[in-house]
Amino acid sequence: MSKVNRIKGFADLFPPESTAYVFMEETARDVFSRYGYQEIRIPVLEQTEIFARSIGQETDVVQKEMYTFPDRKGRSMTLRPEATAGVVRSYIDSPMSGSGTSCKLFTFGPMFRYERPQKGRMRQFHQVNAEILGEDSPWCDAEVIIMLETYLKALGLKKLDIELNSLGCSQCRPDFHASLKAHLKKLDQDNLCSDCQRRVDTNPLRVLDCKVPACREMVSDAPRINKSLCPECESHFAKVVSMLSQAGLKYRLNPNLVRGLDYYQRTTFEVVSHDIGAQSSVAGGGRYDGLVKALGGSDVAGIGFACGMERLALILEGIQERPKDFYLAVLHEDAMDKALFMAQNLREKGFSGEMGFQVRSVKAQLRQANKLRVKTCLLLGVDELTKGEVQVKDMATGVQRGVSQDDVEQALGLNMKGKNNNYLRNG
Ligand code: HAM
Repeated sequence: MSKVNRIKGFADLFPPESTAYVFMEETARDVFSRYGYQEIRIPVLEQTEIFARSIGQETDVVQKEMYTFPDRKGRSMTLRPEATAGVVRSYIDSPMSGSGTSCKLFTFGPMFRYERPQKGRMRQFHQVNAEILGEDSPWCDAEVIIMLETYLKALGLKKLDIELNSLGCSQCRPDFHASLKAHLKKLDQDNLCSDCQRRVDTNPLRVLDCKVPACREMVSDAPRINKSLCPECESHFAKVVSMLSQAGLKYRLNPNLVRGLDYYQRTTFEVVSHDIGAQSSVAGGGRYDGLVKALGGSDVAGIGFACGMERLALILEGIQERPKDFYLAVLHEDAMDKALFMAQNLREKGFSGEMGFQVRSVKAQLRQANKLRVKTCLLLGVDELTKGEVQVKDMATGVQRGVSQDDVEQALGLNMKGKNNNYLRNG
């Protein structure tokens, strides 16, 4: 039978790669919960309308990148290209939306975009996503960005740049749109890339952050949104920037940062790595105050971000699981029963480890213990069985001694370190 191939742009993740993903998720749980965020799980499939209404009909994501198909009843469904729209839809559906208090949520999972796969760009990729609904305070924006930085630091990532901008609001943006469009119309359209030629009419803001060098040059003297903010947006952004400065966070103001999704208003931000090639944005986010209302909810503010896990994995080198506490080597078939219960008893006491299910030579068993990088190898043969003992070998020193089976926990305990820390970093 011929083999059925994996789909292009979709990856299987195995250790050690998958270990880095678990590490990113567990670190997010630890950091975000300290800020009062709660984890939610939402569907990967939504009605297409959700994305068209939130991300924007004219965006690249909606125009060219969504996995959209009719379900068996002919309704248009889409595999989520991002999580924010689904989080907002689920929030509107939930009792939380009527509670009158703000709501901090985070979620992980796969997203789907039909883009050309390359380093750091997949068709199925994963995000760590955090959103806060019901807060419009600039201090909240500052806290969200500080939390993102804290998270990236907790992952051990330091060489990252944070870019910041304000995109204004429904008050000040229409005028800016009009003046930008008028400016772009005056340019020689043939010198713009084909996407930007279309964007001049449909989504002029996006022309500002086109990555094509010719387009960049063409828009170098285009009007900038930061010069057109209304007084409310201006003071909101000034407060955010001032708080981040006071917090000692390093950022760069980038008036061309407009992001690829239409729901953003006011504060937007992106985290960029210079070590991973062209797909350099490892996280992005911003405020989306009109979105809850646009999706049928009340007029509630929102802000959040998403980190791209594939891209973080490219810079997160050498994350591996902390070795288990023991390997239990069985030296004779008769010792198997005892070994199974001894290993189980140790796990119930909080130790981690595994037993070998095949009787093999001591040398082969120690080789296996070495491969698993355990601190302690326990050896159980017929001699030990009759004496009620087990051999305890410290793999680092090579010292081996017989220990009463009742004292194994204590012997292992002396070898244990940092039980709550499940990960190690190379180097
Ligand atoms: P986004 O900028 O479209 O924002 O995506 C966030 C991150 O997901 C990017 O910075 C990147 O690291 C990663 N990413 C995007 N596309 C791909 C891909 N094809 N392959 C690998 N990684 C990718 C959003 O998705 C917003 N929902 C973020 C947000 C949350 N804004 C407010 N709340």
